[in-house]
This record gives sequence, C-alpha cells and structure tokens, in this order.
Amino acid sequence: MGVTAVRPRLSLGEGSTPLVQARRLSRTLGGDVHLKCDGLNPTGSFKDRGMVVAVGRAAEAGARAVVCASTGNTAASAAAYAARAGLDAVVLTPKGAIATAKRLQAIAAGARVLEVRGTFDDALRLCRELAQEAGYVLVNSLNPDRIEGQKSVVAEVLEQLGDAPDAIALPFGGGGNVTAVVAALDEARVSVRVIVGEAAERGTTWASAIRIAEPAHGEHVAALVAAGRVEVVALSEEQLRSAWRRIATAEGVFCEPASAAGPAALEQAGVRDGTSVCILTGHGLKDAAAVDEAGSQAVEPSLDAVLEALA
Ligand code: F0G
Repeated sequence: MGVTAVRPRLSLGEGSTPLVQARRLSRTLGGDVHLKCDGLNPTGSFKDRGMVVAVGRAAEAGARAVVCASTGNTAASAAAYAARAGLDAVVLTPKGAIATAKRLQAIAAGARVLEVRGTFDDALRLCRELAQEAGYVLVNSLNPDRIEGQKSVVAEVLEQLGDAPDAIALPFGGGGNVTAVVAALDEARVSVRVIVGEAAERGTTWASAIRIAEPAHGEHVAALVAAGRVEVVALSEEQLRSAWRRIATAEGVFCEPASAAGPAALEQAGVRDGTSVCILTGHGLKDAAAVDEAGSQAVEPSLDAVLEALA
C-alpha cells in the first residue's frame, strides 16, 4: 500500500481490529450499530495504521529521524514505529495537556519528548518548521503516507460486514482520519454516509486527544461538507462524557474519551436505522484517569464488611 519495491519489513501487527456488534447501543440509538475497536492496534490507537506506512517510507528514503506534534497517540505510535525501524523520534506535545500513559509510551520507546508551553497548534507549527530546518521527516497526518495507511480501516469494515454500512461515524480532531475514510470509501465506490463528531469546545475539551483549535485538514473537511459528502456534528462536553460512559457500561468496550465522538455524533445526527459503524479510535487505558472512581471503595477483610458495602 503506497510503498515502493524496496519495501522495508516494518510491522507491529497493526490493523485487523475487531468489529463488535453493539446490541444494547443499537436498542437505544436505533439501527444496527457496530464498534470498530481500533484501540486494539499495537500502541492502542488507530494512528498505527498510517504510522507504519509513514515511518516505513521515511526509513526507505534514508531518513534518520521522524518528528511529530501530538496530543499523545501520534507520539506513542511514531515512537514505537521509529524504534522498530531503527530511527530516532522527536515529539512535541502541548505541556500538561496530554494523557500520562501516552507520554510515557513515547518515552518508553526512546523518543525525545519536548513539552511545548503552548497548544497543540503551536506544537504542530514548530514541527513543520523543524522538519524543514533539520531534515526530519514529519509524520503528522499532513504526511500523505499517514492518510494512505489509515484508509485500511475502511477495507476491513467492508470485509467484516460483508457489505457497505449505511453510515460511518468517527471523531474529527485535525481531520486526517475523516480525510482517509472518505478517500477510501470513494476508492471502493461505495456510498456511505460519513458523520464526524467534533468537540463544540475544541480548544479546551475534556477529550484531550481532540483538543485542537485549528484542524490541519479543516479546509478539506469544509469542502467535503460543502459537497454534501460529510456531516460535522458539534458535541457538548456532556454528550461526549455520557456516550463514553455508555459504550463501556452498555457494551463492555472501554475506549478513550475522544473515541466517544463517533457514537455521540451518530445519536446527535439522528441516525435511527440502517447499519452503522463507529470507529473507536483509542483504547480506554490510554486515559484511565478520565474514569470516575466512585464505583470503588476500601473494605476490611471480612465477609460482613463486604456484604455491608454491597448492601
Ligand atoms: N481519536 C483519537 C483517540 C485521537 O488521538 C485523535 C487524534 C483523533 C481521534 C482525531 O483524529 O486528528 O485524524 O481527526 N489525535 C492526534 C494525536 C491529534 O496527536 O494523537 P484526526
């Protein structure tokens, strides 16, 4: 896929993630809802689909290092694939604004992590400048190899369902993933309604993965909306939170907060029938601190204490 004849042997086993039928969500939302569990990729997010191609191509081109700006998942993915390919990785993150596990994943894989005192948008601007100055290969989704790789999710969904769904719903952060999904659907010549959920409070949302004020692919997404190809739904913080809780408690699927934008957008857009697929972009363990710990309490080691707690 988009790789030349000198194809490097680079893989961590990305893709082929489960498509889970969501019976309880289907009952509340209407229709036949499926969850594409992309948090089960090697580093816990959908980013691995595109990163394997982008880092593979960078290695093939003789690059020494890759660079990216990130709210966390791109960083973790770039770090892992760079390690695997024997390249250095530099990641710039908005300081104090990304989930701890994601930062630690990047550090664990040996990436150089620079925490920018600014926003994700500042970090991305710096990475674009750095990529020109110092010869790093930029592996944000502005790199077309990332988009190329991310298309694979559509091929899997079509194969797993045995047919095209009526609708696909996913989060809209920077817009790389919706760009890839629409391109893949068009290439497959299937007509599918694409609904994307963005945080109404883009710059400050609780869903830190999509805390992006200026989406890099914003103009392209706006053109897709104008062409009637994509519907963008703005989601309140409460809609994101309640959808996120419901996916875990009703289906047992623990995704990270940003991933709840898919099911929340489906509901907000009023999709009440047909077959739909929500792309759950990241694993819940990425941002476990988002969980309210009210369901847990300490007890003395006696049956009486346990029964009393359960009463
Ligand atoms: N869901 C998750 C879990 C993400 O990490 C991201 C983006 C998105 C959705 C939005 O995807 O940007 O293609 O529209 N995360 C980037 C990062 C910004 O740095 O990890 P998009």
